[in-house]
Amino acid sequence: MDVEVTGQPLEAVDADLQVVGLMQGEELDSAYSDLPGARDVRSGFRKHTLLRPDGDRRVLVIGLGKREELDAERLRIAAAVSVQQAVNYEARSVAWTLPDADGTAADPAAFAAGIADGAVLASFRFDRFKSRDPDDPPPPAIECLLISAPDDADSIQDAVTTAHVAAEAANRARELQALPANFVTPTYLANRAREIADAYDSVEVEVLGRDEITQRGMGGLAAVAKGSEQEPQLISLRYSGGPSDGEKLGLVGKAVTFDTGGISIKPSARMEEMKMDMSGGAAVLEAVAAIAELGVPVNVVACVPSAENMPSGTATRPGDIITQLNGKTVEVTNTDAEGRLILADALTYCVRELGANRLVDIATLTGGVLIALGTTYAGLLANEDEWAERITAAGGRTGEIVWRLPLHPEFRELIDGKDSDLVNTSSKRKASTIYAAEFLQEFTDDVPWAHLDIAGTAWDVGRAYVGNGPTGFGVRLFVDLVTASTE
Ligand code: BES
Ligand code: MN
Ligand code: ZN
Repeated sequence: MDVEVTGQPLEAVDADLQVVGLMQGEELDSAYSDLPGARDVRSGFRKHTLLRPDGDRRVLVIGLGKREELDAERLRIAAAVSVQQAVNYEARSVAWTLPDADGTAADPAAFAAGIADGAVLASFRFDRFKSRDPDDPPPPAIECLLISAPDDADSIQDAVTTAHVAAEAANRARELQALPANFVTPTYLANRAREIADAYDSVEVEVLGRDEITQRGMGGLAAVAKGSEQEPQLISLRYSGGPSDGEKLGLVGKAVTFDTGGISIKPSARMEEMKMDMSGGAAVLEAVAAIAELGVPVNVVACVPSAENMPSGTATRPGDIITQLNGKTVEVTNTDAEGRLILADALTYCVRELGANRLVDIATLTGGVLIALGTTYAGLLANEDEWAERITAAGGRTGEIVWRLPLHPEFRELIDGKDSDLVNTSSKRKASTIYAAEFLQEFTDDVPWAHLDIAGTAWDVGRAYVGNGPTGFGVRLFVDLVTASTE
């Protein structure tokens, strides 16, 4: 989808559907107030009314609710509603008037970014496996979003470009999430990483396969991959956009392309959803692509450990003791707690081999986070307050909201091994999201680190702009995080 900012007033913009927001207790702009139907308009948040000024033109009036409550998230939702209506009317172009930000909870740039986010994300379709009659016209899609901002066109342009690039990247991550495991294998993700490196001179890629993973001592990734015929891949990307002596942010994303649980097999109900257990890895890959596309002046190294977790005659057994890349030994008490085993090696690799001096990892790690925070917040755990606050702020701006959970030595005790340094699961049914993070912390070499548990927010969130299915959680947050660090 094209996204353009224009200084022209909405009436002068040529678009199939024009969209105007209306805040509670306020009058419709005089340009529209005499149109047939204008007396029906409602200003309650999400309520919408279609006006027909003349034969062809359509104006959609969307209620934005109370002025003081209006923020970027409400505009994401309103933009999604406008896209659903536009699709109904088979509109190919949509033009939004940027709402006046005075007295609201945000600024014009954040509003414009919210409209771009909402429109691009709401346009995502996963229909490549749906047969269509070749004689039928292709399903309607919006080709162009225009944001009319006569007073702010210049000042919002950068924010709109960033939001647009990041939202398109989130949609690519969503496609990877939705594609089933007979398509998205570790090799498929490695090829996507190669494609990203080919597209940008500033990005380099390195992929390690099964033999190298084993030889280099990545016992966690090797153990998880052992039950599958799919070759595991340790995928690394380096993006160099900043000074070579500058900070190096390490992004690490779990990419289990299918999680059966292994020998500790999962129940069969809804197991098909475990094709999305690579959501963290997909978010990391596409975030790096977006950061490179934008040319953000920072350095980022990314590490995506990818494997398929299968039960078989060659699979890791409960009770097996493995050695991770940093030398710590782990008794695998539950083969379904596989994410932490592959992330552990990737965190070590990201610091020691790729030179990261600050880390954030993202993973569909525990069902517990869904119990604690639902599909609304991702869990955030961190070893440094300032880093946690920066991530919380980035998520607040993009609508990928996170809630911090605590770390504490009492949780750490739950993963003390009996015959090994660590166990990968506790027998006590306590705080699984937290002790999973305690496990990861053992592999961070004490650099500032934050962990995002997205098991609840990666899929089936039901928000207007992502609907059910894949959300691409993390892509826009990471782009915002690095962009904000340069301001
Ligand atoms: N991939 C799952 C976590 C998950 C659950 C993701 C629901 C998305 C939706 C992870 O590998 C897992 O199986 N975690 C276990 C850990 C347990 C064995 C300690 C869990 O949370 O049940
Ligand atoms: Mn699992
Ligand atoms: Zn998993």
